[in-house]
Amino acid sequence: MPAPRPKARVIVTRKLPDQIEARLSELFDVELNPEDKPFTREQLHAAVQRAEVLAPTLGDPIDGALLASAGPQMRMIANFGAGVDHIDVKSAVGRGITVSNTPGVLTDDTADLAMALILAAPRRLAEGVKLLQEGRWTGWTPTFLMGRQLKGKKLGILGMGRIGQALAHRAKAFGLEIHYHNRKPLPAAQAEELGATHWPSLDQMLARVDILSVNCPYTPATYHLLSSRSLKLMKPEAYIVNTARGEIIDENALIRMLEAGELAGAALDVFEDEPYINPRLRALPNVFLLPHMGSATLESRVAMGEKMILNIHTFLSGHTPPDKVLLASL
Ligand code: DGY
Repeated sequence: MPAPRPKARVIVTRKLPDQIEARLSELFDVELNPEDKPFTREQLHAAVQRAEVLAPTLGDPIDGALLASAGPQMRMIANFGAGVDHIDVKSAVGRGITVSNTPGVLTDDTADLAMALILAAPRRLAEGVKLLQEGRWTGWTPTFLMGRQLKGKKLGILGMGRIGQALAHRAKAFGLEIHYHNRKPLPAAQAEELGATHWPSLDQMLARVDILSVNCPYTPATYHLLSSRSLKLMKPEAYIVNTARGEIIDENALIRMLEAGELAGAALDVFEDEPYINPRLRALPNVFLLPHMGSATLESRVAMGEKMILNIHTFLSGHTPPDKVLLASL
């Protein structure tokens, strides 16, 4: 009888929910990161030289140079997270390394957070909280902290994938008119159900919407898609919400426009150079900022972990992982 195959070495770069770490430990020869400090470059190099499966997450730069130093045992990158913009998937595939991610299970929570930001910006929640925290409230007045009503306003959704669609359903219930820009229009029945208008031209949509929500993935094609030029097409009374990736917006251009009153406000969960937050952004009264919390619920994070385990297990059993990242999809 052949000796059983030794358990595969899986190296996980960050602390994961307890039940996920327990299951990983049962199934694999796993190295966890209980201290939850991001891996240094050296630690990442050491990991790709020893791991059969690397389980990184956003913030771990898995670039071509790192992959060039991977040992021949390295067969899979099982990302904890949907976005794979921190991974050079092309280099990985070129080296015969399979990449997987965890889409789908964080859709509702991220759409909920986008909706929360859509409420927060025009209703000036950040200013209200700050005022109370600083003990500056002197009482109700008829003209105090007046914001803008959501009902009847035009919401532009940039990227109508899973999260964009989940957001559209929520936003419709709040009385927002749905507009979207996406490579592929929605099937007619779905567009009709949402009352959604497809704009093949992003520029044309930007000029018309009252609130813009960024929900597309970050790829080379979407880097600074919202450039200084395109942001200037928006109405000065419009708001921007971003729960996708900071790099999609030219953050400096956005800050300049917010400072100049050329946009009414912004609510951002993601930033260009996380975890650095530009102090000029923090100083603005008309912004609502969160520390990249879109999928931060116990339910989503456990489901992401379970997906990651399923991907690893399926791959190590000789099959295609259900969430294999395909180059053509990027
Ligand atoms: C992802 O999965 O890419 C998200 O940004 C995490 O919230």
